[in-house]
Amino acid sequence: MIERAHVLICSGSMCVSRGAKSLRSEFEEHLTRLGIRDEIKLVNTGCVGLCEQGPFVIIYPEGVFYALVKNKDIKTICEEHLYKGRIVEKLVFDEAMTDEKEIKAFDEIKFYSKQTRVALRNCGLINPDDIEEYIARDGYRGLGKALLEMTPLEVIEEMQASGLRGRGGGGFPTGLKWKFAYQNESDQKFVICNADEGDPGAFMDRALLEGDPHAVLEGLMIAGYAIGADKGYIYVRIEYPTAIEKLKIAISQAKELGLLGKNIFGSGFDFDIEIRLGAGAFVCGEETALIASIEGGRGMSRNKPPFPAAKGLWGKPTIINNVETLANVSAILYIGAKEFAKIGTEKSKGTKVFSLGGNIKNAGLVEVPMGTTLREVIYEIGGGIPQNKQLKAVQTGGPSGGAIPESLLDMPIEYETLVEAGSMMGSGGMVVIDEDNCMVDICRFYLEFTVDESCGKCTPCREGTKKMYEMLEIISSGEGTLEDIDRLEKLAKMVKSSSLCGLGQAAPNPILSMLEHFREEFEAHVVDKRCPGGVCKPLIHLEITKDCIGCTKCATNCPVDCISGSIKQLHEIDTSACIKCGICKNICPVDAIISV
Ligand SMILES: Cc1cc2nc3c(=O)[nH]c(=O)nc-3n(C[C@H](O)[C@H](O)[C@H](O)COP(=O)(O)O)c2cc1C
Ligand code: SF4
Ligand code: SF4
Ligand code: FES
Repeated sequence: MIERAHVLICSGSMCVSRGAKSLRSEFEEHLTRLGIRDEIKLVNTGCVGLCEQGPFVIIYPEGVFYALVKNKDIKTICEEHLYKGRIVEKLVFDEAMTDEKEIKAFDEIKFYSKQTRVALRNCGLINPDDIEEYIARDGYRGLGKALLEMTPLEVIEEMQASGLRGRGGGGFPTGLKWKFAYQNESDQKFVICNADEGDPGAFMDRALLEGDPHAVLEGLMIAGYAIGADKGYIYVRIEYPTAIEKLKIAISQAKELGLLGKNIFGSGFDFDIEIRLGAGAFVCGEETALIASIEGGRGMSRNKPPFPAAKGLWGKPTIINNVETLANVSAILYIGAKEFAKIGTEKSKGTKVFSLGGNIKNAGLVEVPMGTTLREVIYEIGGGIPQNKQLKAVQTGGPSGGAIPESLLDMPIEYETLVEAGSMMGSGGMVVIDEDNCMVDICRFYLEFTVDESCGKCTPCREGTKKMYEMLEIISSGEGTLEDIDRLEKLAKMVKSSSLCGLGQAAPNPILSMLEHFREEFEAHVVDKRCPGGVCKPLIHLEITKDCIGCTKCATNCPVDCISGSIKQLHEIDTSACIKCGICKNICPVDAIISV
């Protein structure tokens, strides 16, 4: 039977955490009750991208985007939309409808109109548990083309012609890396998919694995064919249970169809994939530490060279590629290097997926052509900052990256431009920082993370990150001096230049970039004993301004009862009793409470 409507239910981790898990059973129940279950196809998909507005239900053929859907809404959607054919306007995502109440096409919705989905081409559209749906969207055609029509060297040349660079952070040319491993003769070679994704705030790779696991498997198989490996590993962190489950299903389905295993497509190429679970250590995302972890050793980095392409897993030539890189590989083999290279800029080809977070309206997953400006991502796709607050900076690259100030927002996103601005592409975390954030406090947060995650092997990183963290604590407490800021900068440069691996080399980046662009904020902490963002508790002094309307909310909610005032009268804070929890400031409806 051909169903008259397809109901796509976003089942990405974000939507599940917001209650999407039981939406399907609600649909089953109400469609059955209405006697139309057979006419409607229910599809659980991966992330649609607009996580902040989830859970999402999208109904085709009309393409209606229902946002913030709750269990109780399903009865109405079934009865009104699917039974009577009437769209439930109050549940439609605001931006997916015109003022004339017409449903917008997918690419007319502002969030999507500036995006180009290559790596995410199937995310939110197909059921990741059904290999047939991947195949129906031209899945495994790239692999077929590689195995049946191209030599391994031709595949590598195609990759080089595409200009694809690694999406795991470093931006190394993928084809060139493959060529090194191809040229290294060995009885055994390996390919590894790096799905460790340890940056706080990054969830691109998780979303890709949950929403389109076959795209990654296919990319890994193509890499294996190109370099002469018959075994691949996917190293994925144990905190990603849904991604692991989807991968297991995908691998078993690919095996069943003969797309994995012996003599794939009758080409004589054998390939097997094994999943290895990481315990959630950030350093295990670094390629040599990752290899040590797969080998059963402690996740610690080692010196390079030799690079893994020469001496990797169990001493054999090994290629390690990021999840998003591999999802691009399968697309490139199918659409062709020429088409792919048309997207992006001269030096940065294709697209980049970002997980957009922090103080932004449309937090979620976005994929934009390289060369798109940060301003376009933040204001046109991300919808800007809630309550029209002033943007202060954008942190790209997570704990290894840096803060890009508002004045550089019109800079195109490319590997090189981001480095010039004191940051890096990283794997794709993009955190929006507004006027209410404190740069010293953000540095402290990232340094606390790197102190915890340093593997401890080399002294500059092990001791240096700890010392930098302590210095930031002193500055944020108001006890620091201008000399402390200079010493912090000096130490940061020393740790950067002398650490063994990328973790220590990049850990000082947040400090260095914030000192470059926001030095006056650090100085305010030590000279004026003031935190301009109103975040560092020892430096906060709350005051109620004349804008107070006497609503009493602050007094009612203060946990230590230190706010007094009568209804409709100006209120007052007893600063000697105030514990600076900030509840009153957050709750005030007219922003009458300020930090001075
Ligand atoms: C501390 C640290 C953590 C890293 N974490 C990841 C990660 O989670 N995922 C990833 O793909 N690459 C990560 N990398 C980069 C890898 O070492 C490696 O360059 C990358 O997996 C290569 O794949 P690509 O060429 O496709 O980018 C990390 C590097 C460092 C120094
Ligand atoms: S900051 Fe906390 S303790 Fe201080 S006045 Fe406000 S609610 Fe009370
Ligand atoms: S919540 Fe704001 S407006 Fe209400 S009494 Fe307190 S300061 Fe005044
Ligand atoms: S997980 Fe549903 S929109 Fe991202």
